[in-house]
Amino acid sequence: MDYQDLLDLAETEKNRQKTIRVHCCTSTGCQASNSVDIMKNMKNAVKTLGLEERVQVVGVGCMGACGRGPLVQIDPDDTLYEEVEPENAASIIDALNGGKTEVIKGDSQHPFFSRQLRIVRENTGKIDPERIEEYIAVGGYQSLYHAIHEMSPTEVVDEITRSGLRGRGGGGYPTGLKWATVAKMPEGQKYIICNGDEGDPGAFMDRSVLESDPHLVLEGMAIAAYAVGANHGFIYVRAEYPLAIQRLKKAIQQAKKYGLLGSQIFECPFDFKIDIRIGAGAFVCGEETALIQSVEGKRGNPVPRPPYPAQSGIWGCPTLINNVESFANISPIIKKGADWYASIGTEDSKGTKIFALTGKVRNNGLIEVPMGITLREIVEEMGGGVPGGEVKAVQTGGPSGGCIPASMLDTPVDYKSLSSVGSMMGSGGMVVMDEETSMVEVAQFYMEFCRGETCGKCVPCRTGTVQLYSLLTKILNKKATALDLERLEELSYLVKDTSLCGLGMTAPNPVLSTLHYFKQEYLDLLQESEFSNGNVVTAAK
Ligand SMILES: Cc1cc2nc3c(=O)[nH]c(=O)nc-3n(C[C@H](O)[C@H](O)[C@H](O)COP(=O)(O)O)c2cc1C
Ligand code: SF4
Repeated sequence: MDYQDLLDLAETEKNRQKTIRVHCCTSTGCQASNSVDIMKNMKNAVKTLGLEERVQVVGVGCMGACGRGPLVQIDPDDTLYEEVEPENAASIIDALNGGKTEVIKGDSQHPFFSRQLRIVRENTGKIDPERIEEYIAVGGYQSLYHAIHEMSPTEVVDEITRSGLRGRGGGGYPTGLKWATVAKMPEGQKYIICNGDEGDPGAFMDRSVLESDPHLVLEGMAIAAYAVGANHGFIYVRAEYPLAIQRLKKAIQQAKKYGLLGSQIFECPFDFKIDIRIGAGAFVCGEETALIQSVEGKRGNPVPRPPYPAQSGIWGCPTLINNVESFANISPIIKKGADWYASIGTEDSKGTKIFALTGKVRNNGLIEVPMGITLREIVEEMGGGVPGGEVKAVQTGGPSGGCIPASMLDTPVDYKSLSSVGSMMGSGGMVVMDEETSMVEVAQFYMEFCRGETCGKCVPCRTGTVQLYSLLTKILNKKATALDLERLEELSYLVKDTSLCGLGMTAPNPVLSTLHYFKQEYLDLLQESEFSNGNVVTAAK
């Protein structure tokens, strides 16, 4: 395929598309509520009413407002229907023909949608993820063409560096710097890994990107491969994401068919193939060194760094590992330029971030927001606040993150600000808690998760998470003493300071942040303890 073929394909696809497109969400969440039947019924209604020339029903990816699904959206007038059922789906088509529908209309102008800035999710909910032609019709694979034909590998790396993109997998490491390290390694076998393990409880951003726009990720990986000199890539996805896996497989086959993956891509001496590796749903396998072990067919245990994967990764070869959302940012950066990307966000955090907004908040689902937006804007404006109550705290960063109290809701969402208040950006989990929430229970919940997910390789994490969980349980059961509270804090720092990998190093964060901001809740429980000596407050200080 050459550039003209790509443009021709885009044109043919645009001509195939009808004036009215009825977008029906077919992501995992909406599929679980019968969206496949909804789509079938709408397609039948189009036939019955003889609207085939004008109306087209399209299965698309996630529209974001997952709490109100199944969702149907009409393009171009942007009418949104919520909580659609198979029984009333046909009436939506009838409404296009002058009839009436009782299906609830959503507010597509609500701040939940209007405050978003969609770069990664630009096509999500608008194109059929199972047809490469739809991706090509919205300009897909043009960035890959431009990178290969008009830029040297070094120029591509420089562009990504100048964009200021930082890894979206949690750590926030500068993407361009990582690419430069791999690119500078001596020529020879190099690999690319896309990390789609996504193990944080409550997180489903990456799943949504893979299910809704798989070619965006494949294109980002191919550009990365060209930039660093790799010819083989792996996408590591957890087995719990069957739809993402199925769509990725289809996308890879389609890209191969058009010569966008494989040998001599765009008739250039550039070869790149992608294989899928399915993880068994262990949180620790998202950690890069454990993931590499797992790709090699070994047990997914972390190993000490250095050497970093960029120097010695899969089978000892230089390996570039990036998160799904990081790769999904690449094509837009190449298309619109580093300056455009760097103009969005804050000084140290450029671009946008996708969050899974969940918990005690009116509007939950997936949002993509510019870096620098405040927590208050997200929770109160976009999320619509807590139903019938007040926000007590917002948890970001999953099991590695922390709880930010309501008094700090004006904190901007960027890497620096979130760490300065004792939390972290993480991969995008954002849980809103109301006044009824026990913060000690929250700490216990995350510790229970880490206790179950520790790989057991090193002692501080293996036994420390168990001990921390027991101490939290003792406190919650009102059987603790002031000494237990002291131990809880001391042990948290010990586990952080002495664990081998990021899981153990960050597992105590939810404990430490709740101890910092909500210590009174711990003290109240001690006061009520059957072992209280009535002097808890002094003793625990
Ligand atoms: C316990 C643990 C789990 C992790 N899980 C993931 C994950 O599911 N997805 C991911 O991209 N990164 C995960 N990471 C971070 C990766 O180790 C790595 O930093 C990341 O994939 C690099 O990509 P990025 O630079 O694009 O963020 C995890 C780290 C730790 C310590
Ligand atoms: S810190 Fe925990 S998860 Fe990481 S290697 Fe040690 S035991 Fe395994």
